[in-house]
Amino acid sequence: MTSKREPIVERARRFCAANGLRLPILLAPMAGACPAALSIAVANAGGLGACGALLMQPTAIRAWAADFRAGSNGGFQMNLWIPDPAPARDEADEDLVRAFLSTWGPVVPRSAGDAVPPDFEAQCEAVLDAGPAIVSSIMGLYPPGFVARMKASGIRWFATATTVAEAREAEAAGADAIVAQGMEAGGHRGTFDAAGAEMRMIGLMALLPAIVDAVSVPVVATGGIADARGIAAALILGASAVQIGTGFLRCPEAKLATAWAESLGRAAPEDTMITRAFSGRAGRSLANDYARAAAAPPAPRPAPYPVQRGLTQAMRDAAVQANDVTRMQAWAGQSAGLARAEPAAALTRALWDEAQSILE
Ligand SMILES: Cc1cc2nc3c(=O)[nH]c(=O)nc-3n(C[C@H](O)[C@H](O)[C@H](O)COP(=O)(O)O)c2cc1C
Repeated sequence: MTSKREPIVERARRFCAANGLRLPILLAPMAGACPAALSIAVANAGGLGACGALLMQPTAIRAWAADFRAGSNGGFQMNLWIPDPAPARDEADEDLVRAFLSTWGPVVPRSAGDAVPPDFEAQCEAVLDAGPAIVSSIMGLYPPGFVARMKASGIRWFATATTVAEAREAEAAGADAIVAQGMEAGGHRGTFDAAGAEMRMIGLMALLPAIVDAVSVPVVATGGIADARGIAAALILGASAVQIGTGFLRCPEAKLATAWAESLGRAAPEDTMITRAFSGRAGRSLANDYARAAAAPPAPRPAPYPVQRGLTQAMRDAAVQANDVTRMQAWAGQSAGLARAEPAAALTRALWDEAQSILE
């Protein structure tokens, strides 16, 4: 007798075979929270490693790839944010933000808002040099010239989408897989239009089957998946694989600030919120004292990305130094409470074993 799981698990197996994996679990790219050791553990267990390279200079990108290869001959994805045009600056608004922030951390000089992320073109070159199996994108699409160079190098492009329209655009631009990011996801929302992130908050349960129906490339599900039930549900809804972020953050290899890791373990879904108060881009964090105060009157409106990120740098650094989660940039998905504090390789294998038994 053929079991119902056959087509579901078979789809995942095809995806694994095409991408050199032994199980359909991808570590989510997480800028600032993706030490090579975490990727090595996931990849050695048969999943895909990930480098969130947003904040990394080209030398650091190349060094990350070398570190990974010293510990694993598995695969990894390199991830970049597609940059927005430089934002309009408003000194008076920024002064209000600086005054607000000085009640949460060190005094913020005006120049803090001038900080910019590393040069995107140079990062793209470093990513190609690093030769990952997969390059992923968030916040938009790579320019056609870069897509052509990726393809010529045999690199597959996984594009994050938060709506059906974004998924269609990504497929038309040449994406080899769509990463459907539900609004449950920890960290920044990948919405192409930065201003619209809070307006189109689509949960994975609705987003995933809609994207699966709209595109012909494989779809990877991400957002709020942190245990075997979530993995099984995503595969039933049509995903070929899952991508897990917050669910790996309590692993010892993630080396997260302990107060953040412990708070994840205690968090109920309603203990997270969408906020622009850390970076200027909408992202899901623990609803800590700072994020809640920044969302309530009389707090000033956050500056645009990346100005707000620069303005909050000193407070964020001080919070990590003091292991103070009340003002830390503590990204967290809605399923944070399911994250297990276990070594990442064992966790990866256990998640897939458990998901398979649910699907039997
Ligand atoms: C700490 C953290 C940093 C993140 N940084 C990035 C990033 O740089 N690029 C990206 O595409 N996604 C980033 N994300 C989003 C993840 O790739 C993924 O969509 C999300 O973690 C999935 O939801 P989950 O956390 O509930 O598993 C980040 C998420 C977290 C938690």
